[in-house]
This record gives sequence, structure tokens and C-alpha cells, in this order.
Amino acid sequence: MNTSFSHPDRNLALELVRATEAAAIRALPYIGRGDKNAADGAAVDAMRQFLGTVNFQGTIVIGEGEKDKAPMLFNGEVVGNGSGPECDIAVDPIDGTSLTAAGRGHAISMLGVADRGTMLDASSVFYMEKLVSNADAIGVLDLGQSLSDNIRELAKAKKKPVSEIKVAILDRPRHQDAIEEIRSAGAHTRLILDGDVAAGINAAREDNRIDLCYGTGGSPEGVAVTCAIKALGGFIQGRLVPGTDEERERGTAAGLKFDYVYSADELVASDNTFFVATGVTDGELVKGVRHDGRWLRTESLIFRSRSGTVRRVSSDYLAERWLD
Ligand code: FBP
Repeated sequence: MNTSFSHPDRNLALELVRATEAAAIRALPYIGRGDKNAADGAAVDAMRQFLGTVNFQGTIVIGEGEKDKAPMLFNGEVVGNGSGPECDIAVDPIDGTSLTAAGRGHAISMLGVADRGTMLDASSVFYMEKLVSNADAIGVLDLGQSLSDNIRELAKAKKKPVSEIKVAILDRPRHQDAIEEIRSAGAHTRLILDGDVAAGINAAREDNRIDLCYGTGGSPEGVAVTCAIKALGGFIQGRLVPGTDEERERGTAAGLKFDYVYSADELVASDNTFFVATGVTDGELVKGVRHDGRWLRTESLIFRSRSGTVRRVSSDYLAERWLD
């Protein structure tokens, strides 16, 4: 037993999970109702209200919503009750707003937290190319090499044939070449409609359903998921993908680097990270929120890097206290 490990006194994420639970519960009436902004708005309001009760001084470094003018917890917004540790926050009250509106699986409410000043503020650039896997990939994978080489190297590191490698990738026209490359290498795709945060966590947590998550998705999601990847001891790299010259200029002015591969430590410099995710709709990572008789039931994952802990928490809420 490692006796040099000193137990930290507080797991902030155990308190923060109330915010993602509340966001999922408030989004419940909107699941499958076809209105993603209404779902997101309800989740944002609930999350903001609950974050206000937590004993910390959190600054939203990575909010979400500018991309499609959805409701958002805006960048620079300060949340928490004003005392306690100063933290950076990357938040997505619903990752998978379209999934939620359609009533499809794999939407989560999530937030990542790290020491103040340690998260890369990538908010001026919407997209990031990401490569995420588990600890086997450290020192092996690199966005600087081709996707097929990465797949072959990962297979070697995982001591299994390429034909057993499963790669999650967003099903988008921009990924057509990558999808073909994965299949020509002999590996399998797991095409996802949305939600590359949950897919990235699945790739890092060794559940054997996904070995690698690759592709261009939201940069906020890339920074947020890094908080979870650090707690899992997994691997992530990101490269910013500007959509326009104007975005590249804005990013450069904000100190961001292009044609550059960011490591996990550059995405989030702190080794003191927290991450919480609550299911909005059923997925491989967590079950979705549901109304069960008198109860509202949620399932969440709570990660803390410093202690190396992952908790799965089920909560039951008396519905009459929550629903109008
Ligand atoms: P939202 O729920 O905020 O719309 O994000 C869903 C998502 O699929 C993310 O998981 C992913 O990173 C991003 O959108 C991909 O962007 P796009 O839909 O523009 O390809």
C-alpha cells in the first residue's frame, strides 16, 4: 500500500455534482420536444443557481453557446458563493443539445474544474481536432502522425490486433476522409451523432467499447474533457482548427497557437482537476435522468485527479419538489 499518499480534505466535485444533476433534471421536460435552446436554457439556469451555493470562487473560462447562439454561462462569469478556492471552470450544461431535443441517447450535463489560471482559454476558436485514449497511448500517439499510424501504434501498445480497435468519431462530412482511413487501416468506426465528451471519456476509461476518440469537435469540450482525462490518467492531445481567417486572427490575438499540438498539460496545466457528468439521456457512460413514480432519478460520474478517484453516484429526488 502506498502510505505516502495524503488524503485531500475536500472533493469539490462531490458538491458540484448537484449542479449537473439539477441541469439534467431541469432539461427532462424538454427531452424529445424538438427545442434544443429551451432544453439548454433550462439546464443553464439550474446549473447557475446550484453553482452559486458551492463554497468556491469559480470563473467560467470555457462557457458554451456562442457557436449556435444558445443560452450560456458566459466566459468570465464568476460563480460560487464567493469564498473558498479560486478555480477555472469549463462548462457545458448539456453536451448534446440536439440529441436531447430529438430524444436520442448520449447527452450529458458536465463541468470541469481546475486551479485558477490553469485552463487554456480556447473560447475564441470553436473547433479543436482531438485525439483521446487511455494510458497505453501516452508516448505512443501523436496528432503529428497520420491517423492510420496512430491506430497501428495504439494496437501495438494495447497488445491487440488492429482489427479489434474501435474508433469513435463524430459523423460529419468533414470526417469523411478520416472515416475511410480508419476502415482502410483495418479498424472499426463508432460513428457518433454528437457528444464527443462522453466518447472521449469512454475511450480513456478502458471499458473496451472504444479504444480511441478522434476528430474535430468543440474546443470548449476539448478543454473540459481534459479535466476528466487527467483524473483517469489517460491521453489527450488537441489542435485548434480555425474556421475562418478572422477566427485565426482572433485566436492569435488571444495568444492561441495554430498548427500546434496541445498536450493535456497545456490544455489544463493543473494536476488538481475535477470533472462531473450527469446523464441527460441514456448513454454508455451514464444513464439518463428519468421520472419514476414519485422520484426523479439521476446517474453521475465524479472524477478527481489528485486522489485518482472515479465515483458513480445515483441520486433520487422527490419529484414534487422539482416539477411544476
Ligand atoms: P452541443 O450540445 O453544444 O451542440 O455540442 C454537441 C457536440 O456534438 C459536441 O459534443 C461536439 O464537440 C460538437 O458539438 C461538434 O460540433 P458540430 O456539431 O458543429 O460538429
